[in-house]
Amino acid sequence: MNIGIDQLSFYTPHYYLELAALAAHHKINPDKYRLGIGQERMAIAPLDEDIISMAANAAAPLLQNHSPDNIDTILFATESSVDQAKSAAVSVHRLLKLPSNCRTVELKQACYSATAALQLACAYIARHPKRKVLILASDIARYDLDGPAEPTQGAAAIAMLISADPRLVTIEPISGLYSEDIMDFWRPNYRKTPLVDGKYSALAYLKALEHAWHDYQHNGGDDYATHTAFCYHLPFNKMGIKAHAHLARINQCHADENALTAGLLYSRETGNSYTASLYASLASLLDNRNDLAGKRIGLFSYGSGCTGEYFTATISHDYQTHRRGDQHRALLAARQAIDYPTYLRYWHAVEGNSNLTLPRDNPAPYRLAAIENHCRRYDTP
Ligand code: CAA
Repeated sequence: MNIGIDQLSFYTPHYYLELAALAAHHKINPDKYRLGIGQERMAIAPLDEDIISMAANAAAPLLQNHSPDNIDTILFATESSVDQAKSAAVSVHRLLKLPSNCRTVELKQACYSATAALQLACAYIARHPKRKVLILASDIARYDLDGPAEPTQGAAAIAMLISADPRLVTIEPISGLYSEDIMDFWRPNYRKTPLVDGKYSALAYLKALEHAWHDYQHNGGDDYATHTAFCYHLPFNKMGIKAHAHLARINQCHADENALTAGLLYSRETGNSYTASLYASLASLLDNRNDLAGKRIGLFSYGSGCTGEYFTATISHDYQTHRRGDQHRALLAARQAIDYPTYLRYWHAVEGNSNLTLPRDNPAPYRLAAIENHCRRYDTP
């Protein structure tokens, strides 16, 4: 039985900051961001957008023509959680009016946890082939102002419906794993922004990729040459470019640029989206290449701290009918640029307020409307 991603929807907030504007503020050459880290823009969430509204906005299009009756599990992957106890999944469950006979859970391991959700969902569907699992991955990546990681912020969400006989991609059963307890990027509970050892984190990413690839091979994975395209976790595009070159080097092959480029298009516009990043790259690949029917692609998921997983997927023969390229491109095209002072205002977001009313500041159907007695209240369509 084939199991995998039946539907995939990408969402990013309505606003972005041009990295050239950030470079101008810091009085540095904009090529450092454009070429050095490979980024053009970073998505910025306004005050009335949080990871829950972003996830609901990603998932709503999937449910428009789909009966929710057989969705009995929602797995929410994030590392910018809004609550230490209650899962964001149960909030989205209510916003989307899903049936009450459903389990709702939040998962955490830095940027990796959406892949854990995917593997758990595939195993679950193997036991219950008629059920579907809704995976949500939603993050607002926020670093200290004026620090080296500032240009690698961003925001996006992904919603994926996992099922038997998937219409988009089949997840193949063999994968390769690597875990090691390191301090490359972490966020203690008392901090709004992570602590990060940037250069070390990039080396740790490449090390995890190498080990996960070798484990994939050890477990019977297919040759590098059988992979038509690759998607990587993209904290910034240059990291994906370096990972692609590294994997080719390990396999003593030439790194084919064409196997990577289509998967970089969305993240160049949004910046890092932590848990959503790898799957935003998958959406970008599927939406922007027309020659993938029946082909195998490789995916590498990395979460600092760290866990890495290399796995593969085969693309459905009629994926072009089921991808959501028009929706995604329209969303990106409708966004608005903000200036540096507006970026600063949004950066100093609402956390810490127990009572707050938020005027509408974005056109998305779901938005954070207020915080009342520590409870988040959302506007819905
Ligand atoms: N024109 C072209 N390129 C330029 C340039 C110019 N004018 N000026 C500088 N550059 C290049 C540099 O040569 C360098 O290129 P290489 O990496 O190929 O050597 C690149 O721009 C970056 O410049 P710096 O080396 O000066 O690095 P920095 O101090 O600006 O920091 C960073 C860059 C480490 C990525 C930092 O932004 C950071 O810490 N980001 C957050 C951490 C991160 O994303 N880590 C990734 C792995 S961890 C992970 O994947 C999990 C996650 O999501 C966080």
